[in-house]
Order: sequence, then C-alpha cells, then structure tokens
Amino acid sequence: MKVAPSLLSCDFARMGEEVVRVDQAGADLIHLDVMDGHFVPNLTIGPAIISAVRPYTQLPFDVHLMISDPLAYIDAFADAGADIITFHVEADSDIAATIAKIKSRGLKAGLVIKPKTPVERVYPYLEDLYMVLVMTVEPGFGGQSFMADMMPKVTALKQECQRRQLDVQIEVDGGISAKTVGYAAAAGADICVSGTGVFKALDPAEAIRTLQNS
Ligand code: DX5
Ligand code: ZN
Repeated sequence: MKVAPSLLSCDFARMGEEVVRVDQAGADLIHLDVMDGHFVPNLTIGPAIISAVRPYTQLPFDVHLMISDPLAYIDAFADAGADIITFHVEADSDIAATIAKIKSRGLKAGLVIKPKTPVERVYPYLEDLYMVLVMTVEPGFGGQSFMADMMPKVTALKQECQRRQLDVQIEVDGGISAKTVGYAAAAGADICVSGTGVFKALDPAEAIRTLQNS
C-alpha cells in the first residue's frame, strides 16, 4: 500500500517543513486538498501555495481538486507543479475534456467519487485514467470517520479493471488510520490518503510504515 499524507492536517504556518517531515518519514506521495467553498463547504489552498511548497520534496504531488470547475484551473495547477490531478465526477466541467486537458499537460489524470456516487460513473473513462479516488468520507474536512461501507465500490472497481486488463490505481481518502486501513487493503486499494493519521501521530514514520504494511 502506498501512503499519501494529506497536507490538510499539517501546520499551515510551516508547510515546507511539514512536507520535508513526511518525505523523510517515508511517504510515497504528497496529497494536496484544494477546496473552493462552492463544491465543498470549506476553503483551503490554491496554486500559489502548491507552487511555494513544490521545491521542498521530489515526491509526486497528488492534487485533489474539490472545486466546481476543474477544467478552468488545470493549467494553473500544472504550472504549480502537480504530477497527478484528480477531480470529481460530480463537478460541473466536462469530464472527458478535463481528463484530456490534464493529459495534454503531461500529467496523470484521476477521477474522484463522493460517498453517494455509484462507482459505475467512472467506468466510461477508465481507459484514460491513471487513478480513481474513492472517497471514504464526505469531502470537505479532515478528521472524519472512515466509511467502511464504501469498500464494495473499491472491490467492484478492482474487478472491473482486472476484467478489462487496465492498470488503474485505486486510492481511498478519508478517515484512514492503522485501525481502518485493513478494510481498504482487503478491498483492493493501492494508495491511501491519511491526514490526521500521519500528521497528528506521535511518530509519523511509524504511522506511515503501519499503513504501508497493511
Ligand atoms: C477530505 C480530504 C481528505 C482529508 C483526509 O475532503 O479529501 O484528503 O484531508 O483527512 P483525514 O485522513 O484526517 O480523514
Ligand atoms: Zn483528499
């Protein structure tokens, strides 16, 4: 299991150092949660912050867009240093056009589904995707409880990818800790996002290792 610490739970006054801290603790990716106050009822960071922390690590930046019009901002996040850009099927932008735009910038594209969205919504696009992110909380805030009832979606997606011989990474996001990661691993997730589980841990390296070994 790869681990992507979410900077949503880091010390925002020291973001550069926080990135270095989880990089040295063994993180595989850095997860950056972008929220616009429209798509979700919270506001976080944008391209300027991502670009400011980019020099602090060589790890891939996994940028999770929780914004209403992702297509309008792909260039800005590509310029800021994103490696993977994921956006929600529930957003307003044309899905195929947004995937094409991400790939035209040489980046990896992913689709995200909220808890109430059926996993079949991503099936028409699987051939063009590097990743599918299955939310295990309602997007908007860190520190919420893991929804184990999302695991059938992970398993169904894994089976669909195997059936079509597609190598699509499956990521889960929300409430992942040592206690809950086993459900995600058993269901077939490849990458887990963890915010509070890593940044609020006494020993982040130990927390990351535990998640990786699940
Ligand atoms: C929620 C975000 C998650 C969140 C995860 O909208 O997409 O990435 O920060 O935080 P934890 O691990 O604390 O649930
Ligand atoms: Zn996220």
